[in-house]
Amino acid sequence: MKLMVLMALLASGENPSGLPDGAGKQDVELHCTRCHSAMIIRQQKGDERFWLATLRLMQKKYGLWELPPETEKAILDYLISRYGPPAGFIGRRTPLPPELMPPPRK
Ligand code: HEC
Repeated sequence: MKLMVLMALLASGENPSGLPDGAGKQDVELHCTRCHSAMIIRQQKGDERFWLATLRLMQKKYGLWELPPETEKAILDYLISRYGPPAGFIGRRTPLPPELMPPPRK
């Protein structure tokens, strides 16, 4: 049954994970969509530090297994190129405009 569903999906050209094609996609599907859907990944954007920190968090807290360095690199390169930082991103988030900042200390 599972095989038939898989074959049907392949035949219909669907993309169950919704991840864009590209080098590293298969690694991401294999290692990053076992516990949660790819949606949780597609909703994020970030730079290299963000994605590396996310990967380490998955390993430390949630039980993502050790990955061979080349696999880790393929996953990170994929995520950074497809889900890189939004325009204007300079760190954790865009800084608040000055008028929203608290008054300077005396
Ligand atoms: C062993 C299980 C497991 C694997 C494998 C796994 N994750 Fe997760 N991931 C989790 C759990 C559990 C959460 C928390 C889900 C929640 O908060 O509902 C999570 C949450 C996330 C989040 C959301 C974090 C946030 O701050 O909201 C992202 C992004 C993510 N994972 C990316 C990845 C990526 C990229 C990979 C592959 C490198 C991966 N995950 C592999 C278990 C896993």
